[in-house]
Amino acid sequence: MRVPPKTFSCHLLRGALLACLAVFSLAEGAGEVSVRYLRFEEVQETLRLNADSDIPGSDIAESAAWDAWIRSRDAEVRSRIDRGIEDSISNLILYGTSFTSLPKMESVERAASEPGELTPAAIARVHAMAVALSAGRNERVRLVRDFLARQKIGKNSEERYFTENLRRFVTEQAAYQKKLRDAAADADPSALYLARGTLFETRGLSVDTSLLPNFALEETLRAMVRKGVLAPGSMHRIAVIGPGLDFTDKRDGYDFYPLQTLQPFAVLEAVARLELGKAEDVQVVCLDLNSAVIAHVQKLAERGRAGQTYNLQLPRDPKAEWSPEAISYWKHFGEILGSPMKALPVPATLSGVVARAVAIRPQFASRMKAYDANIVAQTLDYAPGQGFELMIATNVLVYYDRFQQALAMANIARMLNRGGIFLANNVLPSQHTSDLEYLGRRTTTFTPDGAYGDDVVVYRRP
Ligand SMILES: C[S@@+](CC[C@H](N)C(=O)[O-])C[C@H]1O[C@@H](n2cnc3c(N)ncnc32)[C@H](O)[C@@H]1O
Repeated sequence: MRVPPKTFSCHLLRGALLACLAVFSLAEGAGEVSVRYLRFEEVQETLRLNADSDIPGSDIAESAAWDAWIRSRDAEVRSRIDRGIEDSISNLILYGTSFTSLPKMESVERAASEPGELTPAAIARVHAMAVALSAGRNERVRLVRDFLARQKIGKNSEERYFTENLRRFVTEQAAYQKKLRDAAADADPSALYLARGTLFETRGLSVDTSLLPNFALEETLRAMVRKGVLAPGSMHRIAVIGPGLDFTDKRDGYDFYPLQTLQPFAVLEAVARLELGKAEDVQVVCLDLNSAVIAHVQKLAERGRAGQTYNLQLPRDPKAEWSPEAISYWKHFGEILGSPMKALPVPATLSGVVARAVAIRPQFASRMKAYDANIVAQTLDYAPGQGFELMIATNVLVYYDRFQQALAMANIARMLNRGGIFLANNVLPSQHTSDLEYLGRRTTTFTPDGAYGDDVVVYRRP
């Protein structure tokens, strides 16, 4: 995703195939498909293409070493989940309005006066979070409290922990900005695009999500339909890799409503709106390595089966100056899958922010599946032709080095049906499996000045 520099962060035979897909969907609906590690033979091409890269793991030459490495890599990747939670805690402290009436920070830059020194406004917000912990009425604050308990951070150390954690966060954010500034100053115009591609390769794994990347995905799919690359009714199974949870994003996330996930519904709705598939027939499978995300999706599906709607709050800050097209996307979001409902009140401290809400119909919530899988290391086995026609990963692969990105691409290719499409929003390595063909890149801007938007890259399994 591109962010403004300041704010960081595819008639008989077909009929037979359809019947086959329907049977399979039912099979998956009733049982579980098992998740397993990628095997040495499945990554041969990727290893060969990356053999000279000097990236850890890329020089592995035999099966036993591979099995050991991929397991330890999975553990190492998952160990970054807690640091992502720590980053979310810092975002909540800086931008949350549910636990304090102090004004929201405008940007992470405003939290530090000089390197390592927090501003009084940031310190006041740290204190407010420490005070809010004891009340514990708020979902996000309770999650913070549970996290502190797991980390064995005692009552008297909480404020100090928040301070140190925020200092680290602010320093890291400054380093990402510097990396981007340096790349922007490079004589090679592709340097910036390349730097963005692996920007967060060592960062904690964030769960945060927001609406607009889905606008970029829908616009990209629309362009593909226009060009005849995608045929009506061609999609039956979609995978959303890393759907995320709306915790408190740095830019346009808020915390005045329960945690929610947007992307599985956004992608399903885009497919329905573009007549690529019927919303009632399309199965959405979510793959994520964060148990909180998996539990959230499983719960919303369970509630859907019990007849309950899944309610989504859709805030928008007019000061963010979205383009008319982005605003239109926001206005129409959920109209196919749900019905408008009264939005939760916007806190006074967020003056100007407007919100709409939609109740997603139970039938759509109930069809969501979720598996705990690390896309870089783990895969699911689908019989030929019974995988996915569309796989999405936005703001996910940017957390990995280029070899791991290439592994994820090989994995995605093996789960895609022939002709299936993979969309991501960061530049991906050219040293990737021949089972993914690069089709191009499309930029969608979210603001009229073009400073904020997404570059969606498109691949197809030949
Ligand atoms: C920053 S959020 C992005 C959410 C959403 N895709 C979006 O663009 O708004 C990243 C999501 O990817 C998940 N994730 C990160 N690494 C992953 C991996 N290797 N395999 C599966 N999910 C991963 C995280 O747990 C989180 O849910």
